[in-house]
Amino acid sequence: MRTQVAIIGGGPSGLLLSQLLNRAGIATVVLERSTRDHVLSRIRAGVLEQGTVRMLHEAGCADRMMREGHPHHGCYLSTDQGRFRVDFTEACGQEVMVYGQTEVTHDLYDAQDAIGATILHEVSDVVLHDLTGDHPHVTFTHGGQAQRLDCDWIAGCDGFHGVSRKSIPEHVRQEFERVYPFGWLGVLSRTKPAAEELIYANHPRGFALASMRSEHLSRYYIQVPLTDKAEAWSDEAFWTEIRRRLPGDVADSMETGPTIEKSIAPLRSFVTEPMRWGRLFLVGDAAHIVPPTGAKGLNLAVSDVHYLYEALVEAHRSLRGVEAYSERALKRVWGAMRFSWWMTSILHRFPDQSEFDQKIQENELHILRDMPSARETMARSYVGLPF
Ligand code: APR
Ligand code: PHB
Repeated sequence: MRTQVAIIGGGPSGLLLSQLLNRAGIATVVLERSTRDHVLSRIRAGVLEQGTVRMLHEAGCADRMMREGHPHHGCYLSTDQGRFRVDFTEACGQEVMVYGQTEVTHDLYDAQDAIGATILHEVSDVVLHDLTGDHPHVTFTHGGQAQRLDCDWIAGCDGFHGVSRKSIPEHVRQEFERVYPFGWLGVLSRTKPAAEELIYANHPRGFALASMRSEHLSRYYIQVPLTDKAEAWSDEAFWTEIRRRLPGDVADSMETGPTIEKSIAPLRSFVTEPMRWGRLFLVGDAAHIVPPTGAKGLNLAVSDVHYLYEALVEAHRSLRGVEAYSERALKRVWGAMRFSWWMTSILHRFPDQSEFDQKIQENELHILRDMPSARETMARSYVGLPF
């Protein structure tokens, strides 16, 4: 087999890149380890920056998002002294789109099917070859047969646990990491959302987040110790705990009910540099991981896709974009990495937190509550810095 761009991974990064490149007349083959159903079963975050909305329009798969998504013009931060609103539109004239990543992935698959894109599922034994030579190619197993895919470029969109990052020689890679001493227990429930906008709560018992997917589907998270197991949390225990952490009026009026998904995710900040090695480009979670606090995971993957798409479209007449990809992408990656770390640090209770740390954290929240310029700075990062 031969194609122009081999894409490893059929998650949001790989599918969006494939969609954009094919619409620009560049041939791709997506190699995905899992089944389509498994990819679509993943529950992830649900806040899209304006840049992501624009890219989905450019990819021709924004129609359902525009029908079913919910523009949000602000969010609430809650402390034990009450809650206050961060008004995105007042601060920077923008808003975010609340629309689940699962739905984005559904829409991307539907768009890929509509253009007859080549996506191979249940591939295994993926190995990248000749990344710095003249004959880059990928070998893999599919349908029990050993296969070879020759290509001009390889996009490593295979997430944190994929093969692409590790295909860059260890002595070339520089990795930066911070692992947080807690996780997020997340639940999905067919209940009316607790409020009309997201509520991020800093509570002495720990962080909580009240989010949503639609008027009838709510998404909640609470900070839990890394030793906790999701199955040890009954629905009743979860609802009791999150109602202790959310503002009293919200807790008293929120609808509870059976959870339809319950899982615990660890939190980490991670970046690998460079994001390019010869013919291989790292995209999305293959290159970086952010704690979910700032809802940056999917949005950061989309900005990587944007930079790589532009570079590969230009590559037939100039390699300037290809050569600048890593530096250009990393500049935005570190901006989102800092913001996600900052939001995580002001909203969670750290096990080794000193009383001094606690006072500093409270002051950070008071500055946000009392200073419009501080809320503007937060809003600009939350809605997404320009690509
Ligand atoms: N070969 C082929 N496919 C692979 C391999 C492999 N060796 N390893 C992993 N994959 C596939 C996974 O099955 C997954 O479908 O690559 C895909 C990577 O998708 P994501 O992990 O979703 O990463 P990405 O597409 O960059 O999207 C980033 O997704 O997980 C969220 O929080 C993350 O919001 C962020 C977004
Ligand atoms: C979600 O709805 O899943 C969500 C929203 C905002 C976040 C994280 C997760 O910061």
